[in-house]
Amino acid sequence: MFTRDLLAGRAALVTGGGTGICRGIALALAAHGCDIAITSRRAEHLEPTAREIEHIGVRSLAAPGDVRDPAALQQAVDSAALAFGRLDILVNGAAGNFLCRAENLSPNGFGTVVDIDLKGTFNACRAALPYLKLRGGVILNISATLHYGGTAAQLHVSAAKAGIDALTRNLAVEWGVYGIRVNAIAPGAIDGTEGVRRLLPEDLRQNAIDANPLRRLGTIDDIAHAALFLCSDGATYINGATLVVDGGQWLTNRALGS
Ligand code: COA
Repeated sequence: MFTRDLLAGRAALVTGGGTGICRGIALALAAHGCDIAITSRRAEHLEPTAREIEHIGVRSLAAPGDVRDPAALQQAVDSAALAFGRLDILVNGAAGNFLCRAENLSPNGFGTVVDIDLKGTFNACRAALPYLKLRGGVILNISATLHYGGTAAQLHVSAAKAGIDALTRNLAVEWGVYGIRVNAIAPGAIDGTEGVRRLLPEDLRQNAIDANPLRRLGTIDDIAHAALFLCSDGATYINGATLVVDGGQWLTNRALGS
Protein backbone atom coordinates (compact mmCIF):
# COMPACT_ATOMS: atom_id res chain seq x y z
CA MET A 1 0.00 0.00 0.00
CA PHE A 2 2.85 2.39 0.92
CA THR A 3 6.55 2.33 0.08
CA ARG A 4 8.57 0.26 2.54
CA ASP A 5 10.80 3.22 3.48
CA LEU A 6 7.83 5.50 4.28
CA LEU A 7 9.04 6.07 7.86
CA ALA A 8 12.68 4.98 7.56
CA GLY A 9 14.96 6.54 10.16
CA ARG A 10 12.12 7.61 12.44
CA ALA A 11 11.26 6.45 15.92
CA ALA A 12 7.84 6.03 17.51
CA LEU A 13 6.35 5.24 20.87
CA VAL A 14 2.96 3.50 20.89
CA THR A 15 1.05 3.36 24.18
CA GLY A 16 -1.06 0.24 24.45
CA GLY A 17 1.10 -1.11 21.62
CA GLY A 18 1.25 -4.68 22.91
CA THR A 19 -2.23 -5.71 21.82
CA GLY A 20 -5.14 -5.00 19.50
CA ILE A 21 -5.38 -1.98 17.23
CA CYS A 22 -2.24 -0.41 18.63
CA ARG A 23 -0.21 -3.59 18.16
CA GLY A 24 -1.35 -3.46 14.52
CA ILE A 25 -0.28 0.17 14.22
CA ALA A 26 3.08 -0.60 15.87
CA LEU A 27 3.76 -3.48 13.46
CA ALA A 28 2.71 -1.39 10.45
CA LEU A 29 4.98 1.51 11.42
CA ALA A 30 7.81 -1.01 11.95
CA ALA A 31 7.19 -2.60 8.55
CA HIS A 32 7.71 0.85 7.03
CA GLY A 33 11.10 1.43 8.63
CA CYS A 34 10.25 3.03 11.97
CA ASP A 35 11.94 2.00 15.25
CA ILE A 36 9.21 1.24 17.78
CA ALA A 37 8.84 1.45 21.55
CA ILE A 38 5.64 0.05 23.02
CA THR A 39 4.23 0.61 26.49
CA SER A 40 1.59 -1.17 28.49
CA ARG A 41 0.89 -1.55 32.16
CA ARG A 42 1.14 -5.31 31.67
CA ALA A 43 4.70 -6.37 30.79
CA GLU A 44 3.45 -9.75 29.53
CA HIS A 45 1.57 -7.92 26.74
CA LEU A 46 4.75 -6.28 25.53
CA GLU A 47 7.45 -8.91 25.01
CA PRO A 48 5.77 -10.98 22.25
CA THR A 49 4.96 -7.85 20.21
CA ALA A 50 8.43 -6.38 20.82
CA ARG A 51 9.94 -9.61 19.44
CA GLU A 52 7.65 -9.46 16.38
CA ILE A 53 8.83 -5.90 15.75
CA GLU A 54 12.48 -6.97 16.02
CA HIS A 55 11.89 -9.71 13.46
CA ILE A 56 10.71 -7.07 11.02
CA GLY A 57 14.24 -5.67 11.19
CA VAL A 58 13.90 -2.40 13.09
CA ARG A 59 14.86 -1.61 16.66
CA SER A 60 12.26 -2.31 19.30
CA LEU A 61 11.82 -1.52 22.96
CA ALA A 62 9.31 -2.85 25.49
CA ALA A 63 8.84 -0.12 28.09
CA PRO A 64 6.33 -1.11 30.78
CA GLY A 65 4.42 1.80 32.29
CA ASP A 66 0.88 2.76 33.19
CA VAL A 67 -0.29 5.87 31.31
CA ARG A 68 -2.01 6.92 34.56
CA ASP A 69 1.39 7.30 36.23
CA PRO A 70 3.07 10.41 34.78
CA ALA A 71 6.51 9.53 36.27
CA ALA A 72 6.46 5.97 34.90
CA LEU A 73 5.34 7.25 31.53
CA GLN A 74 8.07 9.89 31.45
CA GLN A 75 10.57 7.12 32.14
CA ALA A 76 9.19 5.05 29.25
CA VAL A 77 9.35 8.03 26.88
CA ASP A 78 12.88 8.93 28.03
CA SER A 79 14.09 5.35 27.58
CA ALA A 80 12.62 5.22 24.05
CA ALA A 81 14.27 8.50 23.06
CA LEU A 82 17.57 7.34 24.57
CA ALA A 83 17.45 3.92 22.88
CA PHE A 84 16.66 5.32 19.43
CA GLY A 85 18.42 8.69 19.72
CA ARG A 86 15.21 10.48 18.75
CA LEU A 87 11.43 10.44 18.98
CA ASP A 88 9.31 11.46 16.00
CA ILE A 89 5.93 9.85 16.51
CA LEU A 90 3.70 9.28 19.54
CA VAL A 91 0.63 7.08 19.17
CA ASN A 92 -1.77 7.30 22.11
CA GLY A 93 -3.72 4.08 22.11
CA ALA A 94 -3.84 2.88 25.70
CA ALA A 95 -7.51 2.58 26.64
CA GLY A 96 -9.93 0.90 28.97
CA ASN A 97 -13.55 0.04 28.40
CA PHE A 98 -16.47 -1.91 29.75
CA LEU A 99 -20.21 -1.77 29.23
CA CYS A 100 -22.03 -0.15 32.16
CA ARG A 101 -25.15 1.98 32.16
CA ALA A 102 -24.68 5.41 33.77
CA GLU A 103 -27.02 4.69 36.66
CA ASN A 104 -24.83 1.76 37.73
CA LEU A 105 -21.47 3.45 37.09
CA SER A 106 -19.45 4.31 40.21
CA PRO A 107 -17.38 7.49 40.43
CA ASN A 108 -14.27 5.35 40.33
CA GLY A 109 -15.52 3.46 37.28
CA PHE A 110 -16.10 6.73 35.42
CA GLY A 111 -12.81 8.17 36.66
CA THR A 112 -10.76 5.10 35.80
CA VAL A 113 -11.64 5.28 32.12
CA VAL A 114 -11.11 9.05 32.00
CA ASP A 115 -7.78 8.54 33.76
CA ILE A 116 -6.59 5.94 31.25
CA ASP A 117 -7.97 7.31 27.99
CA LEU A 118 -7.97 11.08 28.41
CA LYS A 119 -5.49 11.88 31.17
CA GLY A 120 -3.21 9.10 29.90
CA THR A 121 -3.16 10.74 26.47
CA PHE A 122 -2.29 14.10 28.02
CA ASN A 123 0.41 12.51 30.19
CA ALA A 124 2.06 10.91 27.17
CA CYS A 125 1.86 14.09 25.05
CA ARG A 126 3.41 16.07 27.88
CA ALA A 127 6.21 13.54 28.38
CA ALA A 128 7.01 13.38 24.65
CA LEU A 129 6.92 17.12 23.95
CA PRO A 130 10.60 17.91 24.69
CA TYR A 131 11.69 15.22 22.19
CA LEU A 132 9.09 15.99 19.51
CA LYS A 133 10.03 19.67 19.68
CA LEU A 134 13.61 18.93 18.62
CA ARG A 135 12.81 18.23 14.96
CA GLY A 136 9.01 18.30 14.73
CA GLY A 137 6.87 15.19 14.79
CA VAL A 138 3.47 13.60 14.89
CA ILE A 139 1.02 12.76 17.65
CA LEU A 140 -1.75 10.35 16.74
CA ASN A 141 -4.55 9.84 19.25
CA ILE A 142 -7.03 7.00 19.17
CA SER A 143 -10.53 8.36 19.61
CA ALA A 144 -13.97 6.85 18.88
CA THR A 145 -17.33 7.77 17.34
CA LEU A 146 -19.43 6.91 20.42
CA HIS A 147 -19.82 10.53 21.47
CA TYR A 148 -21.03 11.82 18.09
CA GLY A 149 -24.44 10.76 19.32
CA GLY A 150 -25.47 9.21 22.61
CA THR A 151 -24.34 5.63 23.23
CA ALA A 152 -25.97 3.56 25.97
CA ALA A 153 -23.62 2.03 28.55
CA GLN A 154 -20.71 4.09 27.20
CA LEU A 155 -20.94 7.40 29.09
CA HIS A 156 -17.49 7.01 30.64
CA VAL A 157 -15.76 6.24 27.34
CA SER A 158 -17.76 8.82 25.40
CA ALA A 159 -16.73 11.53 27.88
CA ALA A 160 -13.08 10.46 27.70
CA LYS A 161 -13.00 10.29 23.91
CA ALA A 162 -14.76 13.65 23.55
CA GLY A 163 -11.97 15.01 25.71
CA ILE A 164 -9.39 13.39 23.44
CA ASP A 165 -10.95 15.15 20.43
CA ALA A 166 -10.71 18.48 22.28
CA LEU A 167 -7.12 17.72 23.27
CA THR A 168 -6.29 16.85 19.65
CA ARG A 169 -7.57 20.18 18.37
CA ASN A 170 -6.07 22.27 21.15
CA LEU A 171 -2.61 20.71 20.95
CA ALA A 172 -2.72 21.02 17.15
CA VAL A 173 -3.16 24.75 17.61
CA GLU A 174 -0.56 25.13 20.37
CA TRP A 175 2.13 22.77 19.09
CA GLY A 176 1.87 23.31 15.34
CA VAL A 177 4.42 26.06 15.78
CA TYR A 178 6.94 23.39 16.86
CA GLY A 179 6.30 21.42 13.68
CA ILE A 180 4.24 18.90 15.63
CA ARG A 181 1.05 17.71 13.93
CA VAL A 182 -1.64 16.35 16.26
CA ASN A 183 -4.34 14.19 14.72
CA ALA A 184 -6.67 11.39 15.73
CA ILE A 185 -8.30 8.30 14.29
CA ALA A 186 -11.82 7.34 15.33
CA PRO A 187 -12.20 3.63 14.61
CA GLY A 188 -15.52 1.88 14.26
CA ALA A 189 -16.03 -1.73 15.35
CA ILE A 190 -12.74 -3.42 14.53
CA ASP A 191 -12.80 -7.19 14.26
CA GLY A 192 -10.45 -9.26 16.38
CA THR A 193 -9.96 -6.65 19.09
CA GLU A 194 -10.61 -6.63 22.81
CA GLY A 195 -13.00 -3.72 22.19
CA VAL A 196 -15.27 -5.79 19.94
CA ARG A 197 -15.01 -8.80 22.28
CA ARG A 198 -16.16 -6.60 25.15
CA LEU A 199 -18.72 -4.44 23.39
CA LEU A 200 -20.22 -6.51 20.59
CA PRO A 201 -21.80 -9.77 21.77
CA GLU A 202 -21.53 -12.60 19.22
CA ASP A 203 -25.32 -12.62 18.65
CA LEU A 204 -25.23 -8.97 17.55
CA ARG A 205 -22.28 -9.37 15.22
CA GLN A 206 -24.36 -9.94 12.07
CA ASN A 207 -26.56 -6.94 12.94
CA ALA A 208 -23.43 -4.80 13.12
CA ILE A 209 -22.29 -6.04 9.71
CA ASP A 210 -25.72 -5.46 8.16
CA ALA A 211 -25.94 -1.97 9.69
CA ASN A 212 -22.62 -0.86 8.20
CA PRO A 213 -22.76 0.89 4.81
CA LEU A 214 -19.82 -1.27 3.66
CA ARG A 215 -21.45 -4.43 5.11
CA ARG A 216 -18.44 -5.52 7.13
CA LEU A 217 -16.62 -4.85 10.37
CA GLY A 218 -13.34 -2.98 10.20
CA THR A 219 -9.97 -4.70 10.27
CA ILE A 220 -6.85 -3.77 12.19
CA ASP A 221 -5.20 -3.16 8.79
CA ASP A 222 -7.86 -0.54 7.99
CA ILE A 223 -6.72 1.41 11.03
CA ALA A 224 -3.02 0.74 10.48
CA HIS A 225 -3.21 2.10 6.92
CA ALA A 226 -4.88 5.30 8.14
CA ALA A 227 -2.22 5.61 10.84
CA LEU A 228 0.60 5.17 8.33
CA PHE A 229 -0.84 7.94 6.18
CA LEU A 230 -1.33 10.37 9.07
CA CYS A 231 2.18 9.68 10.43
CA SER A 232 3.81 10.07 7.01
CA ASP A 233 4.99 13.05 5.01
CA GLY A 234 1.92 12.50 2.83
CA ALA A 235 -0.05 14.27 5.56
CA THR A 236 2.23 17.21 6.31
CA TYR A 237 -0.61 19.78 6.15
CA ILE A 238 -3.11 17.75 8.16
CA ASN A 239 -3.24 19.01 11.73
CA GLY A 240 -6.03 18.83 14.32
CA ALA A 241 -8.09 16.37 12.29
CA THR A 242 -9.95 13.31 13.51
CA LEU A 243 -10.19 10.76 10.72
CA VAL A 244 -13.18 8.47 11.12
CA VAL A 245 -12.37 4.95 9.94
CA ASP A 246 -15.65 3.09 10.39
CA GLY A 247 -17.01 2.35 6.91
CA GLY A 248 -19.46 5.24 7.31
CA GLN A 249 -21.20 3.64 10.28
CA TRP A 250 -21.53 6.83 12.31
CA LEU A 251 -23.41 8.55 9.50
CA THR A 252 -26.27 6.10 9.81
CA ASN A 253 -28.74 6.26 12.67
CA ARG A 254 -28.73 2.51 13.11
CA ALA A 255 -27.08 1.51 16.37
CA LEU A 256 -24.92 -1.62 16.23
CA GLY A 257 -27.48 -3.75 17.98
CA SER A 258 -30.68 -2.40 16.41
N1 COA B 1 -18.87 -2.48 35.12
C1 COA B 1 -18.95 -1.49 36.03
N2 COA B 1 -17.86 -0.97 36.69
C2 COA B 1 -16.66 -1.51 36.38
C3 COA B 1 -16.50 -2.55 35.43
C4 COA B 1 -17.68 -3.06 34.79
N3 COA B 1 -17.63 -4.04 33.89
N4 COA B 1 -15.19 -2.86 35.36
C5 COA B 1 -14.55 -2.04 36.23
N5 COA B 1 -15.44 -1.24 36.82
C6 COA B 1 -15.17 -0.26 37.85
C7 COA B 1 -14.73 -0.97 39.10
O1 COA B 1 -15.84 -1.48 39.82
C8 COA B 1 -13.98 0.12 39.85
O2 COA B 1 -14.84 1.00 40.50
P1 COA B 1 -15.18 0.85 42.09
O3 COA B 1 -13.87 1.03 42.81
O4 COA B 1 -16.16 1.92 42.37
O5 COA B 1 -15.73 -0.53 42.27
C9 COA B 1 -13.33 0.89 38.72
O6 COA B 1 -14.06 0.58 37.52
C10 COA B 1 -11.89 0.50 38.51
O7 COA B 1 -11.85 -0.88 38.25
P2 COA B 1 -10.49 -1.70 38.42
O8 COA B 1 -10.74 -3.09 37.94
O9 COA B 1 -9.96 -1.51 39.79
O10 COA B 1 -9.52 -0.89 37.45
P3 COA B 1 -8.31 -1.39 36.62
O11 COA B 1 -7.41 -0.26 36.46
O12 COA B 1 -7.74 -2.66 37.10
O13 COA B 1 -9.01 -1.78 35.21
C11 COA B 1 -10.49 -1.21 33.45
C12 COA B 1 -9.25 -0.86 34.20
C13 COA B 1 -11.64 -0.90 34.38
C14 COA B 1 -10.61 -0.31 32.25
C15 COA B 1 -10.59 -2.67 33.03
O14 COA B 1 -11.78 -2.84 32.30
C16 COA B 1 -9.42 -3.15 32.18
O15 COA B 1 -8.33 -3.36 32.68
N6 COA B 1 -9.61 -3.40 30.87
C17 COA B 1 -8.56 -3.94 30.00
C18 COA B 1 -8.26 -3.07 28.89
C19 COA B 1 -9.47 -2.75 28.06
O16 COA B 1 -10.51 -2.40 28.59
N7 COA B 1 -9.37 -2.81 26.75
C20 COA B 1 -10.47 -2.49 25.87
C21 COA B 1 -10.13 -1.36 24.99
S1 COA B 1 -11.55 -0.91 24.02
